[in-house]
Formats: sequence, C-alpha cells, structure tokens
Amino acid sequence: MDALRQKYIDAIANVADEAALEDLRVAAVGKKGEVSLKMRELGKMTPEERQVAGPKLNALKDEINSAIAAKKAALADAALDERLRSEWLDVTLPSRTRPRGTIHPVSQVTEEVAAIFADMGFKVAEGPQIENDWYNFDALNIPPHHPARQEFDTFYMNRKEGDNRPPHVLRTHTSPVQIRAMEKTGAPIRVIAPGRVYRSDYDQTHTPMFHQVEGMAIGKDISMANLKWVLEEFFAAFFEIDGIKTRFRASHFPFTEPSAEVDIQCSWVDGQLRIGEGDGWMEVLGSGMMHPKVLQAGGIDPDKWQGFAFGMGIDRIAMLKYGIPDLRAFFDSDLRWLRHYGFSALDMPTLHGGLSG
Ligand code: PHE
Repeated sequence: MDALRQKYIDAIANVADEAALEDLRVAAVGKKGEVSLKMRELGKMTPEERQVAGPKLNALKDEINSAIAAKKAALADAALDERLRSEWLDVTLPSRTRPRGTIHPVSQVTEEVAAIFADMGFKVAEGPQIENDWYNFDALNIPPHHPARQEFDTFYMNRKEGDNRPPHVLRTHTSPVQIRAMEKTGAPIRVIAPGRVYRSDYDQTHTPMFHQVEGMAIGKDISMANLKWVLEEFFAAFFEIDGIKTRFRASHFPFTEPSAEVDIQCSWVDGQLRIGEGDGWMEVLGSGMMHPKVLQAGGIDPDKWQGFAFGMGIDRIAMLKYGIPDLRAFFDSDLRWLRHYGFSALDMPTLHGGLSG
C-alpha cells in the first residue's frame, strides 16, 4: 500500500496538464483503478484483516483525491498566470493619433451665415440644383430671349431626341428657391437659401460650380431700409467688425425693382486685402425689392405684399474673411490646402460662442 501511495502521490506532483491528471485519477481511483480494485479485495479478507486494511485504503483514496484536487487548482492558477503574462497590455500608453478631416471653408461659412440670419428670424430653404427653365428664368421675370439668359453662361441638360420640351438647366443662381419657398409657405416669409450654382466660367475668381446664399423677406411693409439694416447687421456679425460700412449702388436685375449691388468697405495694404477699413469698395452681392411679377409667379398677391431679396457669393465672402486668394483651389481637394484652410469639426459657429475658431 505504501508503494501504491508513493507511486500516485509522485505522479500527481509531476503531472504537466489537466488531461494527464485525469488519466491518473482514472488509473488510481476510477472504477477499475488500482486503489478501487484493492478495495474490492477487502471482501475476501478475514474480519481482522479487513479492520486494518479498510481504513488504510479509505485514507489512501482520500489522500489521492485531495492531491488531485490540489494539483488541479495549481494547474489552473499556472494557466491563468501564463495567460496574464502573454496577454499583458500597457493600457497607460498614449494612443496613436489618427488623421482627422477638416471642415471645408464653404461649409464653415455656410454655417456662420445660417447662424447669423437665424438670429434675425430667417429659416433655411432649399431647392434642386437641376432646375427647369421656368424656375430658373421665367418665374424670375426673365422671359425666353431676354439678354439676361445669355449673360448667365447657362449649362443646359440634354433632352432625348424628339423631346421638344425646353431643357432643364443647372441652376445659375439660388433665386429659383425664392419661387419654391413662396409656393411652399406663402407670405409673410423670411428665408435664406444656401447652395450650389453653376455657370460656364473659369478663372482665378470663377469656377463652373460655386455657392450662393439667397435671402428673401416678404411682409406688408418690408422696404429697402429693412434690406439695408439686415445686410449691415449681417456684415458686422460675419466680419466681426462693428459699424462696417456698406455702399448700395443702383443696378439692374430683372427680378428686383429697384435693384442695388452692395459693396463693403475695404483697403489694400501691401497687396493684402483688409475688410472694414480704408476707402476702397468690394462688391459682395446683388439685391433689391422683389418685382411684382416675381411675387405673382410665387403665388403671392403683389398688391398686398412686398419684399426684398438678395443673392450673395458664399465662396466670395469666405475668401474675404479668411484671406484665401484663389477660388479654384476651393474645389481641388488638395489635402495640404484643406488642412491649412479647413476648420476643426468641433468649431461649430454660434453667435455667442464666436463664429470661427
Ligand atoms: N440672382 C442674382 C445673381 O446671381 C443675385 C440677386 C439675387 C440679385 C436676388 C437680386 C436679388 O447673380
């Protein structure tokens, strides 16, 4: 019995894994294990022999079982230690920086413009970039053969052969959204409509796609004075210059009467443009009192209502505010340009928090 004891206690101590331990358990105390077979032999012994051998065998069985249980726990501990060692991570290491995109100046400025006009009660309206010529021209008092149609360098969409309807156009300005907004809401109304517009033109200050924001306010007694105040408020907030001077020059648009082009005060110092100082002027938008025919086209009675409208180049004022010299680079998707002129995604423009980061 001592030899049996020695054999299994040693073997258990030296076993390397749980599977080998289980084999040992079966070999010792399993149904047909050595210790179990010995216990069966008790029946053939005399009562005196049995009284000596019985308790000894029972003790041996207990000893082997608890040695196996202890070894099993030790093996599990060792396995866990090994896993912790091999899967160790230093969670205090700084993470790798990931390249982050930036907000394009056009998006940034569009948000800034919307924030300023929202504060004056203007909602944002939208219209399609592919327009029919009624919205882009006729409804805005530009009939077919009107010279203004030629001035716009319009992109026309193809029509299938035999389809003689007038072609759709890529909208040449955001003014068609005036008509769509009037149709949708009626009067009174105050909206701005930022978006993409298209003209066949390309040089340092012109790209075939660019951005405008339309403004429109219709009420019972809206006047040029309201237009001037709204625009001056806008420029002061946008350029963050109190009392910035504007100049209204008489002009002509088919859809407004009277019409004015608006310049803001600026100067050139050592080839650098400065807004809001000096005695130079920079043209930034077209505007005027809405033509009665335009109100009518939008389903609004021009004998009861009147309003102003304006159209401003978003890219243009972005260039002026952020000192960006070439319009074409806006749409080249050059990463160096985007990183340089782009804005952090967290710089949400608000009137109270500041319009730019
Ligand atoms: N739609 C005109 C343009 O592109 C601008 C404008 C809008 C003028 C509204 C007057 C009123 O160029």
